[in-house]
Amino acid sequence: MSLFITFEGPEGAGKSTQARLLYERLQAMDYPVILTREPGGTRISEMIRRIVMDLRHTEMAPTTETLLFSAARAQLVSELIRPYLNTGGIVLCDRYADSTFAHQGYGLGRDLDELQAITTVATGGLMPDLTFYLDLPVDDGLYRKQVAKGRVEQSSPGSTFTTPPEWNRLDARDLAYHQRVAAGFAELMRRDPDRWRQLTAEQPVSALAEQIAQEVEPMLKRVTRLGADA
Ligand code: TMP
Repeated sequence: MSLFITFEGPEGAGKSTQARLLYERLQAMDYPVILTREPGGTRISEMIRRIVMDLRHTEMAPTTETLLFSAARAQLVSELIRPYLNTGGIVLCDRYADSTFAHQGYGLGRDLDELQAITTVATGGLMPDLTFYLDLPVDDGLYRKQVAKGRVEQSSPGSTFTTPPEWNRLDARDLAYHQRVAAGFAELMRRDPDRWRQLTAEQPVSALAEQIAQEVEPMLKRVTRLGADA
């Protein structure tokens, strides 16, 4: 068995930090684990990320944006996520397909059934076992992210990316857009409550990390530790 865990939430909620802390904790416990992000995580997907996030690309059509996120996802699933899950490991991913439904669906108003069809093509139907929603009022998150802009976070060994905070084309959308996205996430959670864990990001980083670790703990029996007899 394997375990696929994703992190979602508004901008600035600390997803990347929490994903990294969980990654380091699981690694220290000798679990086979990788950490990746969307869009990105592979050479090709990181190139697509640069195109889709570039602030200069104001002319990008919503369909192009949707297909670029999906193309980056297709490459990540096929090159990294699915092969690693097939070895019985744990994959942690900072954002995944739910971001497409929330942003391109609820945020930009793209048809949800159409997005579902595109997402199924991109992922082969692979969905997470568990998804954390780190909750924060959208204006607080955007403010946090602006403050953090320019401060370079450290990368960790074994993670497939580094995370310099960036102010990107999607952050720059207006507050109403980000509020539609947050309402979209609420709807996605309502539709699939078993998969989601909604936790407030308005607490110390270490306390939130503990809550996340507690939620993950019961699912770890699906994975064999490195060096343990199968
Ligand atoms: P982040 O790495 O700071 O979370 O930035 C990723 C941005 O891209 C964020 O604004 C959410 C957005 N996004 C989408 O709009 N659709 C998607 O499918 C994904 C994965 C991200």
